Amino acid sequence: MKLFEKIKLDKDVSSQHLYIQLYKALKGFIVEGKLKKGDRLPPIRKLSEMLEVNNVTVVSSYRMLEEEKLVYKKIGSGTYVAFDLHNNEGFDHGPKTSLIEQGHIQLEKNTINFASATPSTDLFPVDDFKEVLNEVLDRDKGSAFGYQESQGYYPLRLALKEYIDNYNIITDINNIQIISGAQQGIDIIAKGLLNYGDYVMIEGPSYRGAMAVFESRGAKIIDIPLEKDGLNLQDLEKKIIAYQPKFLYMMPNFQNPTGISYSLEKKKKILEIAEKYHLLIVEDDYLSDLNFYNNENITLKSLDHKDLVIYIKSFSKILMPGLRLGFLVVPRLVYGEVLLAKHTTDISTSGLLQRALELYLKKGTWQQHIRYMGTQYMERFEAMVRSIKEYMPQEVEYTLPKGGVNFWFKLPKGLSSKELYEMTVKQKIVFAPGHLFFLNNKETSYFRLSTAAVNVDEIKYGIKELSDMINVFMRKENHHSTQTNEYTPIL
Ligand SMILES: Cc1ncc(COP(=O)(O)O)c(C=O)c1O
Repeated sequence: MKLFEKIKLDKDVSSQHLYIQLYKALKGFIVEGKLKKGDRLPPIRKLSEMLEVNNVTVVSSYRMLEEEKLVYKKIGSGTYVAFDLHNNEGFDHGPKTSLIEQGHIQLEKNTINFASATPSTDLFPVDDFKEVLNEVLDRDKGSAFGYQESQGYYPLRLALKEYIDNYNIITDINNIQIISGAQQGIDIIAKGLLNYGDYVMIEGPSYRGAMAVFESRGAKIIDIPLEKDGLNLQDLEKKIIAYQPKFLYMMPNFQNPTGISYSLEKKKKILEIAEKYHLLIVEDDYLSDLNFYNNENITLKSLDHKDLVIYIKSFSKILMPGLRLGFLVVPRLVYGEVLLAKHTTDISTSGLLQRALELYLKKGTWQQHIRYMGTQYMERFEAMVRSIKEYMPQEVEYTLPKGGVNFWFKLPKGLSSKELYEMTVKQKIVFAPGHLFFLNNKETSYFRLSTAAVNVDEIKYGIKELSDMINVFMRKENHHSTQTNEYTPIL
């Protein structure tokens, strides 16, 4: 009880409600790790006596914590903390749509996770990275912990310039900006270029994390429907004229969530349109390396002779997301704004990790790793393709991607993928319902399955089980309608 004695409530009538003050104090204990997963909260009467408040105040604050899944009630036993600061892989309760809507899922043990497009941790080159980290510390000593220049550690930028030379992205080293992950790249581009009320264009559907950034800047977002080979060009041109957007955000290779790769012809046409209307393009290249069968994954940036494309490259999917490392290639036109936005955001990306990545790239371990990731992802990809062909009910529409980790499906007759999710999560299979990727966030029939976080056995078993569940789901009565048909079918 000692901890709880520290709670000070302001009982002045003009202050915040007591139950909210109490909720905040308790939440603070949980978030700071002072209360750990499994700890029991004091019985309601005891706490109310101690704090000299009404029972209802304590009950209401516990209820607020429960609604956030920070605590849970055991009938007849009390209220327990469900969240562990140091191991937040799991709340004590299973995944809920509300969490997935925020871009997170909390997994129960043994859940087959088709929802996450993040690689499983067993693929990470931990030992190799430990070696380069130690080497950097021995070599650079304290300098590894000093402020790094905002644009990025020069030798790393040099190594990255050489790396993208191989992909025909020819740029000056001064146009490379190191970022703490692609998400930060999107954020600083928005910070540097957008004013409140500006228009931004995205693909429909698109990556939720980017939409959230643009919304946070007060931008108005316009989506352009995707077709099998990329954006609908008529719609794109019409909307450029109508809205004069600041930029178009897109993923031309293995698009998230649809897995679509644009045809070379469309990539070229989009660049022509960009030139005609002086439109900036933000190319999010989060995955083009996972091309298994052909060379159709060339980047827009490598075709960009007019310097209109801001290129974002992430190392999260192909190396380790926790490194928070990526880089931008910034056109001259917006160089000042974007570099300033990075500086005002966090001064620089971790110098230690930049140095370690530079050494990792230089040593050639990187080439081995990328080959290893390629084979691992390809095995998963092929297992997925085989399982889909074998088990997925015929009524479900899809077009298979040519690489990457994302597969996009459509349920028949406007059935809701959110409703399907609510059913499968109980059987410990999760995926990403399609509404997460659309602007209006309305329930849709679309859903995304990712192969990044599942192994081959899980894929085989999971797709069979999921297909069986879809069969049951399709035959169930009393479905509610999704009204998704306003979107052009994209696959
Ligand atoms: C399309 C896309 N862009 C950016 C990101 C964020 O990547 P990072 O971890 O590099 O910030 C993700 C993460 O899933 C993504 O799917």
